[in-house]
Amino acid sequence: MTQLSSHKANALTGRLRVPGDKSISHRSLIMGTLALGESRISGLLEGEDVLDTAKAMRALGADIRRDEAGDWRVIGVGVGGLCQPDTALDMGNSGTGARLVMGLVATTPHSVTFTGDASLSSRPMKRVTDPLTKFGASFHGAKDMTLPLTVSGIEDPLPIEYEVPVASAQVKSAILLAALNTPGKTTVIEKTPTRDHTERMFEHFGVEIAITPHGKNTAITVTGQPELTARDMVVPTDPSSAAFPTIAALITPGSDILIENVGMNPSRTGIYTTLQEMGGDVSFVNERLECGESVADIRVRYSPLNGVTVPQDRAPSMIDEYPILCIAASFATGETVMRGLEELRVKESDRISVMVAGLQAAGVQVVEHDDGMTITGQTSIPGGALVKTHLDHRIAMSFLTLGMASDQPVTVDDGRVIETSFPGFRDLMNGLGAHITDQIKDPA
Ligand code: S3P
Repeated sequence: MTQLSSHKANALTGRLRVPGDKSISHRSLIMGTLALGESRISGLLEGEDVLDTAKAMRALGADIRRDEAGDWRVIGVGVGGLCQPDTALDMGNSGTGARLVMGLVATTPHSVTFTGDASLSSRPMKRVTDPLTKFGASFHGAKDMTLPLTVSGIEDPLPIEYEVPVASAQVKSAILLAALNTPGKTTVIEKTPTRDHTERMFEHFGVEIAITPHGKNTAITVTGQPELTARDMVVPTDPSSAAFPTIAALITPGSDILIENVGMNPSRTGIYTTLQEMGGDVSFVNERLECGESVADIRVRYSPLNGVTVPQDRAPSMIDEYPILCIAASFATGETVMRGLEELRVKESDRISVMVAGLQAAGVQVVEHDDGMTITGQTSIPGGALVKTHLDHRIAMSFLTLGMASDQPVTVDDGRVIETSFPGFRDLMNGLGAHITDQIKDPA
């Protein structure tokens, strides 16, 4: 494991671009595979999670390569054209990759085994195996439905109507992808809106999709077995990745940065609303629409922050940002209350207990709840901690951000895991004024 240490940063200044959106990147490779002809993807995230999905799509029959200009070309096989893979699909660290591809193969006549790393192998899959079983697929593996799991797909699937019991875009998307190779109309009912990249991507490819109110909920209905033809796709940069330099700049005195071309889909931007409510000087310039997704540049300047209570119904639009929000809260005046976050316990790590342990080790005042945490901010944070990341990229980047403004350096036990979502994080942050090194140079 590569330890990384983050020392007090200079003021962060300059323009930067973070890598492509992870959620959209997975979906662009999957949709390219389902379309006939060659789709071109620009701005694809070249992180390990997405590269694992690319490998899985190749194993299912797609021809995928990166061209000299850095764009990705996918020659698809069409809906209903997926092949039987020769070996198990190793989805690495990625819950999104595993769950979406399970949905994709559940309505094919193939038998596909899914494996993953220790983190992914501990994550719940029953949330997708339950609805996919209703199409007629069956699953073989451990009783608790964790990986490794084998999906026996169904050749003649039946369309379903399914109300998603957890707020999860992965579950919704697994069902929508299974619906593509199912005759007739499949409906997903969503009680809490979650990121809608799959729906937008379906519209981009011309899939017949209707999104309508269903009482207090939303019904998403897809007509199966369309013939899809190749489309070009532009992946905006990832608002979840942009949250790290945003908060680094907010807590590091003198900072003033511009993050270019960030995806601003409203189902993803809860963190920016919250930071503005905390008094953060975060503004959006040059707002525009690219391939059905809104995009803007974000200007961030150092700001004294105040604690807030984050509304629970905002959680789906910032579900991946609570670890980094904890770092902003550590420097805010007063209490920041984050509740209604049971889902955080089943992410790449149990993000509530792992954040609480790391924050306490660094001298932050934090109280753990079953469904979240409350942080009381301080003007100075001691730091000087060695934090365990538990194979979780967002834990690693959050604590490296803490080290930029704490009194003593903060070290994470495994910096390599950042490669899953944000290749180049260290160099990009150091280019702005951060001081992240391989090991502690001046230990406390
Ligand atoms: C994702 C959905 C979210 C999120 C994950 C990416 C997606 O997970 O945490 O990083 O691309 O659909 P859940 O659907 O489990 O909330």
